[in-house]
Amino acid sequence: MNSIPYSRLALIYDRVMAHVNYKMWAQHINTLLQFSDIKVRSILDISCGTGKHIKFLSSKRREIVGADLSFQMLKAAQVNNNKGKTPFITNDARQTAFKANAFDAVVMMYDSINYMLEKSDVILLFDEVCRILKTGGIFIFDFVTEQALTDSYDDYYESNSWDGLAYERHSWFSKKDKFQHNEFIFLFNGKSYKESHIQIIHDLNEWRSLVKKSKMQLSHEFSNFSLLAPDKYSERIHFVCKKVF
Ligand SMILES: C[S@@+](CC[C@H](N)C(=O)[O-])C[C@H]1O[C@@H](n2cnc3c(N)ncnc32)[C@H](O)[C@@H]1O
Repeated sequence: MNSIPYSRLALIYDRVMAHVNYKMWAQHINTLLQFSDIKVRSILDISCGTGKHIKFLSSKRREIVGADLSFQMLKAAQVNNNKGKTPFITNDARQTAFKANAFDAVVMMYDSINYMLEKSDVILLFDEVCRILKTGGIFIFDFVTEQALTDSYDDYYESNSWDGLAYERHSWFSKKDKFQHNEFIFLFNGKSYKESHIQIIHDLNEWRSLVKKSKMQLSHEFSNFSLLAPDKYSERIHFVCKKVF
């Protein structure tokens, strides 16, 4: 049976991603938030998944909102954030229900932008982020590079099981169309479910030119989790964009 992306994966996402150091990642985001021209008191994580960044970005002096396309991921986000006061809202990042000028910062982490398969989707996303950002506010996003995928996730297999739920993952990179495929088969309750994920991999110059088409300005670009400029060895790149008018 085919399932929509993240509907089944949500049940075990945090275990599959147990190797990810979200605390360190959130510290990096906090560093990048300092590039904002305005004091950051309100943040939207526009594809927050299970809310692991939010957990570490939260503070008394900040309002944080989590949004995601996947209701199941948001359910896990609520549990991860102790059913606290953070609102979690189902939204497509390309067209949200938030008011104009609502946030000081918007973040979109961990390859989420790579799900915007058409360049027109990226443009829609940038227009939407610009609409809901305050003037002087910033948009921080990261993208995975072809280097990372060909190094580690081309023809990659993984399998595991917990609490009666087993999964197999096969990942491969298609050089021809620059698509990264992640296919999951889940077995539980005697049934099998397949989830197919596709992400587009643009190169650094393509991302730069997409930002140029938006009303935001690219203010900084950083390699991996450093404050160094990206190079051909970068596996993940963080962009900091500003709404300047
Ligand atoms: C790799 S996960 C990252 C989740 C989270 N940011 C993290 O760091 O763990 C990608 C997320 O993007 C979300 N997503 C994909 N397409 C989306 C869209 N059009 N609008 C909002 N979220 C989307 C997925 O539901 C998923 O939660």
